[in-house]
This record gives sequence, structure tokens and C-alpha cells, in this order.
Amino acid sequence: MTSIFDFNANISQLSGESTLLYKEIAKKVEKTKKLKIIDFGIGQPDVVTFKRIREAAKSALDEGFTSYTSALGIDELRIKIAEYLNNRYSTDVKKEEVIVTPGAKTALFLSFILYVNPGDEVILFDPSFYSYSEVVKLLGGKPIYVNLKWDKSEGFSIDVRDLENKITKKTKMIVFNNPHNPTGTLFSSSDVEKIINIAKDNKLLLLSDEIYDNFIYEGRMKSVLEDSDWRDFVLYINGFSKTFSMTGWRLGYVVAREDIINKMGILAANIYTCPTSFAQKAAVKAFETFDEVNEMVKLFRKRRDLIYEELNKIKEIKVSKPNGAFYIFPNIGDILQMKNIDVKTFAIKLIEEKGVVTIPGEVFPLNIGRQFLRLSFAVDENIIKEGVNRIREFIEGMMNTR
Ligand SMILES: Cc1ncc(COP(=O)(O)O)c(C=O)c1O
Repeated sequence: MTSIFDFNANISQLSGESTLLYKEIAKKVEKTKKLKIIDFGIGQPDVVTFKRIREAAKSALDEGFTSYTSALGIDELRIKIAEYLNNRYSTDVKKEEVIVTPGAKTALFLSFILYVNPGDEVILFDPSFYSYSEVVKLLGGKPIYVNLKWDKSEGFSIDVRDLENKITKKTKMIVFNNPHNPTGTLFSSSDVEKIINIAKDNKLLLLSDEIYDNFIYEGRMKSVLEDSDWRDFVLYINGFSKTFSMTGWRLGYVVAREDIINKMGILAANIYTCPTSFAQKAAVKAFETFDEVNEMVKLFRKRRDLIYEELNKIKEIKVSKPNGAFYIFPNIGDILQMKNIDVKTFAIKLIEEKGVVTIPGEVFPLNIGRQFLRLSFAVDENIIKEGVNRIREFIEGMMNTR
């Protein structure tokens, strides 16, 4: 029977399982078991937004900077973003080629709405950030997955041949995320170049989400904006959430050719008008806090080393050392197979029995993640030690029961 409250047909099929579900289970466990929860689920740095940024927001409020702004964002901030990218990547972004959005998620959303028609195929890597596939499906597009290859010593890499084989006449766009959530991979410059060339040769849009670009532990971050032809095929996404620990402020941006940005501005004006005024003023100051950012990344490198060493001691787990972002993605496939359980059950039992929150890799579509768990190492070193110890006890307990 139909009802006036039947959802739009595309919404009914969305399955994006929120990472918040695991937090909810943890809350119950904390109450009933009086167990201190260890949370490896969080996707944000564990520091409060740097002081200078907070002060700038306060000043903007005190000065009454509280009205609507341009849908494209304030000029000051668009100029700062362009300058930052140009200095960092020796590129030539102009203010007019930047739109500031309420978070990188909105930047992604605007990009997908602008280009995905019903029936279009969009290439995603498996695994990938969950919202790409959901928004593509929402618009009637079809996610087409290209597996990332995994090897314990080499980590994750791109199967270029698989990527080429998946391109059809219906392919519209390749979605690339570097450094990568959930695997913590910084893809090599040569992988980035290969993707750029495939996009160019096949006349495809390349949406490149580089939101973790400041969390680099080894290797060089090659941005797609370094390609001198970027205006011909690139939609570049970044944001303030991770680099400046500003998740709650909701600020991201897109860089693309000026006419594309202007179209996004029209969409923005119709959907949310503009990003929050005083948050934008504060974000201008964010570009003066790279000393703080570098300190944070130094700390995260130590945590990365620690969590890798600790997980590596658990013989049932196979783990590669991530070189970017703040996630580690151990393979627990052997345990799942031996115990005949799936990764979601494993993650839920781990919370229920040991109070440790991780994110089962199946949250990141489509199939590869079913053998993996995602742990964020944006937590204190003592918490890492205690949490991995509890994971070890949990696995030992599992192995000792039939
Ligand atoms: C790969 C990736 N892109 C985009 C986002 C969204 O970031 P924002 O908080 O700016 O919306 C996230 C957040 O977890 C992410 O991991």
C-alpha cells in the first residue's frame, strides 16, 4: 500500500550505516557494565580547535559579523584557500575557483548533484568513505567499485588494470581519496599520476577528496592540483575539519573551474544560502596555525607507530603501517574465518565484552572491508595501549572457546 509518507524511491535504498551506531552500543555497555569505554571509532583529532581560531570566531561575533555572506563564501577566506594551495602545490588556483561550503560533505554533495544523472556510473574504490556511494545512489547514479589491492608489507594500492576495465560509455566520474579513509594509505605519486592520466584519456571527471592532506607520516603528498590541466577535469575537495580540528564548525571547500564554482554557488543559494558567517572569519585565521598543526601531526606519528607495533604483536591480526590520515586498518580475516563470524558481529562483541569501539570495515563499501576493522589513532598513547591490550584479550578469549 502506498502512503503519502512514502520516501523518494532513491532514498529508500540508502544503506549508509552510521558509525554512531557503535557509539550507542558503547553507551549502553558503559552504563550496564561500568566499563570505561575506549573509543577507536572517532574520525576527528582529539584536540580542541586551536586557540587563535576560537579567538577569531569570538571577535567576529563581537564585531557583529552575523549576517548572510556570499553563497560562495567570504572573499578573504577564498583568497586564503587559493594562496595556501598555490604555495603548497605550486599551482595557480584563483579566488573565483573556490567555493566555501558547510563541511567537506556538502562540498561532495554539490559536486555529485551537479554531475550525476540517473544511470551514470561513478567509479569508487573499495573500500571508500561511506557517503560517496550513498549520495551517488541518491541521485540515481550507479557506484562501480574498483578493488584496492592489499599486501601486508606494501599496504593498499590501486589496481590500475581493474580501474581501466571498469570504465564504460556510462562512466561519468572517478572518485579518489588521498590520503585514504579508511585504510590510512597515502597513495604514491605514480598512482596519482596514473589516475590523472586515466581520467584525462577517457574524458572523465576526477573528484579528488584530499581532506587528510596534512596527515602525512612518510612519503610525498601529490595533489591532483599539481597537474597543469586540472581545470579540464578536476573537482578538488578539502576542508577544515581534520587539519585544524574543526569538525563541528562545518567548513569545507571545492576548487574547480570558475563556471563550475558559479553553478555550485547557485545550488548553495538554493539549499543553505551560505556557510556560517563567523566560522568563515575564524577559518581565515586557521592558515596562521600551521605550527599547531605540525605539532599535532608529530604527536599522531608517535601514536601511529605505537598502535602499529601493538597490533602487530597480536599474531592472529595482519596489519600494514599506514602512512597517512589517522586510521589503521588491520586485517582480521583469519579470525573471522576460524570463528565463522562476520566483522560486524566481531566489532559489536568487542564493545559488549571489552568496551572497545572500532568500526567494522563493512561500513566502507563494498566487500574488501569485510575482512578489516578501522581504528582511529587520534587518541592518547595510554588509551592506545589499554585498548589494544583489551583487543588482544578479546581475541585470545575467542580463540580459547570452541
Ligand atoms: C574522506 C572524507 N571526506 C570527507 C569527510 C567529511 O568531512 P567534513 O567534516 O568536512 O564534512 C570525511 C569525514 O570523515 C572524510 O573522512
